[in-house]
Amino acid sequence: MRAGWVVLCMLLLAATTALPSSGDLVCAQCHRAETARARESPMARALVPATQCNILRAHPELNFTEGIYRSSIRWEGDRSILSVTDGRQTLTVPLLWAFGNGKAGQTYVFEHDGALYESRVSFYSALNGLDLTMGARGTAPRTIEVAAGRRMDAIGARECFGCHSTGAVAHRALQLESLVPGVGCESCHGPGEKHAAAVRAGDAAHAGLPKLGALDAEEMNELCGRCHRTWQQIALQGPLGVNNVRFQPYRLTNSKCYDPADVRIRCTACHDPHGPLETNPAAYDRKCAACHSSGAQGKTCAVAKAGCVSCHMPKVELPGAHARFTDHQIRIARAGEQYPN
Ligand code: HEC
Ligand code: HEC
Ligand code: HEC
Ligand code: HEC
Ligand code: HEC
Ligand code: HEC
Ligand code: HEC
Repeated sequence: MRAGWVVLCMLLLAATTALPSSGDLVCAQCHRAETARARESPMARALVPATQCNILRAHPELNFTEGIYRSSIRWEGDRSILSVTDGRQTLTVPLLWAFGNGKAGQTYVFEHDGALYESRVSFYSALNGLDLTMGARGTAPRTIEVAAGRRMDAIGARECFGCHSTGAVAHRALQLESLVPGVGCESCHGPGEKHAAAVRAGDAAHAGLPKLGALDAEEMNELCGRCHRTWQQIALQGPLGVNNVRFQPYRLTNSKCYDPADVRIRCTACHDPHGPLETNPAAYDRKCAACHSSGAQGKTCAVAKAGCVSCHMPKVELPGAHARFTDHQIRIARAGEQYPN
């Protein structure tokens, strides 16, 4: 515990009024660097109120036709309206939430007849327009409600918001009024109230939070797997085939590189949980070299000396997602091979 830190924090606190009870703002008072970077992270933008959605603002009119049904999403005044018609009947609802930062896609949630619905159409960046939401593929709507969206049950809604926001669930019920949109500090670090209070009181003994930096590869898989799905979940429930490429803890565990006790292969060996995703393949070379180099014990490559992930972590096109995902089952990938499960 550095005394200067605490003094600085107390000054910051004294200067702040009307503190929210939870959310990143509290943590931001003292952890400025993590918070500033985390704002750039796609995870922090995994959910936004539809009224604040950049994609919807930038696309004031989106249209989609499916059989006799025509859907449109229009920006009107200060909100976004979904309208579905079969020519005779029309269902019109304001969108409430935009799920997904939109790198691949974005799906909307609205309320109808007292229930939450997941929109049947999603925005896809690669199309710069609408297409069916992945789960809706292969089904045909028979009513205007179904053409608008999928009614979510209480458990489904809780899960959705549970992964895309912070503090969404209390006493096993969804708390739409108090949730903080996006994956915030407490989604991974757990409740920070006691920690913050102890720091303020100068009580170093009780200021500790679980030390996430000390997790091994398996424990990190469990943490990230709460949302990215664990090996067990996929092994037991599927899906099999290329649809499981999105579930990195499962894919990584199946790689020969994986060692549950080795921190060099845990998620955060390659990813900054507080920052944007690194997209330059060369930046990952030293992660591989931690094990595969002449100095380390692992085998080295006879084919190339750089750009490891571009061959050994191939990108896979996911049907209906209009996007490619990175296969975390690190391996010698042969042209034309079957996707290994
Ligand atoms: C009043 C200032 C203050 C607030 C508010 C605060 N922290 Fe801290 N935090 C600190 C200080 C000081 C340390 C360094 C403590 C140490 O090194 O023992 C720390 C350490 C940490 C660590 C490192 C723990 C470790 O042992 O490795 C994490 C993680 C953390 N804080 C997360 C959070 C989160 C999440 C929040 C918001 C819920 C938060 N903090 C709010 C001051 C604060
Ligand atoms: C509370 C749920 C949750 C947890 C826990 C979680 N994630 Fe995520 N993560 C998400 C969601 C939701 C997205 C999708 C964000 C988006 O694009 O809308 C995401 C996206 C990502 C991305 C992709 C960023 C991009 O640009 O495509 C990376 C990398 C990532 N997470 C890494 C991690 C790591 C590493 C951990 C564990 C330390 C972790 N996540 C834990 C929910 C979570
Ligand atoms: C178990 C946790 C979990 C649940 C439940 C969940 N998601 Fe996600 N979602 C994720 C993670 C993790 C990602 C990022 C990795 C990926 O794309 O698979 C993601 C990505 C997305 C994306 C793509 C984001 C982008 O930037 O391209 C959309 C859209 C999305 N989710 C919508 C939803 C909707 C709508 C629901 C509820 C009907 C939902 N999700 C339920 C964890 C979850
Ligand atoms: C997606 C999960 C996730 C989120 C969200 C997250 N953290 Fe972390 N954080 C981690 C992990 C994992 C570590 C350990 C890093 C490692 O593996 O070395 C960590 C480490 C830290 C540390 C210890 C110093 C360090 O960098 O190792 C601090 C302080 C911290 N986080 C603060 C925050 C604050 C503040 C926020 C919100 C702005 C936040 N974290 C959001 C997962 C997360
Ligand atoms: C050995 C390095 C490495 C490890 C370990 C690793 N990743 Fe990745 N990950 C990558 C690379 C490389 C990419 C692709 C980056 C790019 O070019 O966009 C990526 C991309 C992602 C994405 C973005 C979606 C996609 O498929 O492209 C998510 C989400 C993600 N990783 C989550 C995780 C999680 C969760 C773990 C732990 C189970 C993990 N990663 C472990 C290297 C790694
Ligand atoms: C924690 C250490 C570790 C890390 C980090 C690691 N590997 Fe490995 N990798 C291994 C081990 C152990 C094996 C098993 C064979 C061996 O002895 O080298 C292996 C096997 C391989 C194989 C052969 C697999 C096969 O199908 O026969 C390739 C290719 C490979 N690694 C590439 C990579 C690349 C590329 C990276 C970085 C993205 C990486 N590894 C990161 C430890 C690691
Ligand atoms: C241009 C594609 C390409 C790149 C880039 C590449 N590799 Fe390979 N690598 C291969 C192929 C193909 C093989 C299989 C060679 C064979 O047939 O035995 C291989 C084999 C391997 C093996 C297994 C060696 C053995 O003796 O079993 C490891 C480990 C490996 N690569 C690691 C890496 C690492 C680490 C990097 C980055 C420094 C890297 N590769 C870059 C294509 C590539």
